Amino acid sequence: MGTATIQAVRGMNDVLPDEAALWQRIEDAARDTFAQYGYRNLRVPIVEPTALFVRGIGDGTDIVEHEMYTFDDHGESLTLRPEATAGIVRAAIEHHLTYDRPQRVWTAGPMFRHERPQKGRYRQFHQFDVEALAFAGPDVDAEQIIMLGRLWKRLGLDGMALQINSIGDARERHTHRRALTGYFRANFAKLDADSQRRLESNPLRILDSKNPEMQAVVAGAPQLFDLLSDDAESRRHFSELQGLLQAAGVRFEVNPNLVRGLDYYNRTVFEWVTTRLGAQGTVAGGGRYDGLFEQLGGAPTPACGFAIGIERLVLLLREARAVGEAVPDAYVVHVGAAPAAALALATGERLRDAGLAVVVHAGGGSFKVQMKRADASGARWALIVGDDEVAANRVAVKPLRAAGEQIALPPEDVAAHIRAAH
Ligand code: HAM
Repeated sequence: MGTATIQAVRGMNDVLPDEAALWQRIEDAARDTFAQYGYRNLRVPIVEPTALFVRGIGDGTDIVEHEMYTFDDHGESLTLRPEATAGIVRAAIEHHLTYDRPQRVWTAGPMFRHERPQKGRYRQFHQFDVEALAFAGPDVDAEQIIMLGRLWKRLGLDGMALQINSIGDARERHTHRRALTGYFRANFAKLDADSQRRLESNPLRILDSKNPEMQAVVAGAPQLFDLLSDDAESRRHFSELQGLLQAAGVRFEVNPNLVRGLDYYNRTVFEWVTTRLGAQGTVAGGGRYDGLFEQLGGAPTPACGFAIGIERLVLLLREARAVGEAVPDAYVVHVGAAPAAALALATGERLRDAGLAVVVHAGGGSFKVQMKRADASGARWALIVGDDEVAANRVAVKPLRAAGEQIALPPEDVAAHIRAAH
């Protein structure tokens, strides 16, 4: 009784210290890059009223239909956020954030979707979510795409491909939807079960089908832009966006079947994809959502944003190459009486004051065992303190990664010695 171990919930992962170093590198790079473009951090709750997502994301979407973690909280229906955009827009409306000026904001954290877990797809996953609120674009659409290109470069990621599309405005989408429904009805027998089911609820999603047998019928579907007049606003928006991306040297492919899985989008949609992650190749996705503020009870406010899946970035970076681990500059080994431990701790503090990263051995053990730990830590230096060092007020400094003699230095000179040798 009571001996069975308890395991994490399926699809919800621990990030252990070896991997967390890479997460931190990604987080630092993302934060710095967003700040370089004037995006400021904001934080919204992980739990929101269920109605926010039903109204925001759309009740015909996979997320709202099947994937939400919804629970009753003393009579109020709440949901673990499956994404961040709806919550950010709710916060913007609630706090009048865009009352007198536009806002560039970002947030990061866990999202929850009850999906079938597989590589790159989890039930708790993490996103950076970036939003430009009260910007009509297409300049800001281009800015966000260019910013992502800069982030990939900074992380040393190549092989990321950009796909863009315009899904038009609400009225145009309505026309398109009618044309699509008519076309797919006429081809009903060629649709797989999933698409037959989607025909009435969300025919646009049929375009997104990954079933190879569906590709021919999808390829023949009416395209939005064929239904629009030459001077339609959304057509102009899309061609300006393409011009801005070309001028910035960002390569892209127009994919007329890129529709995205959330209902709030209009005009610009985009995804950065890689072929290195199998079926879960979309690393970042987003687009414009000019109608969402109104849909959630706010004033009409154009906006554009995207989210990056952090787990997918981690997988990619791990696959791309071995990533440099953060290692301490020095590892302090101490054996002998209590004053040796005190000198070891004091030496650690001194070196940290000088900006170095230091691990002071804890938990005792022989000199040999401690030196093994020092070596395994990856530190460039072992600092050794024993009774002799305490008596002479010295610290023995031994290089671990390069040739060189061990020397004894006064504690206050150790930092400078290490710095000089780097
Ligand atoms: P999304 O396409 O649903 O968009 O998710 C964005 C990214 O989150 C995906 O490209 C993927 O990298 C990651 N992601 C999604 N689901 C999972 C999962 N189950 N496991 C691991 N990673 C996942 C949105 O969430 C929108 N809110 C983006 C946005 C912001 N649009 C406008 N502003």
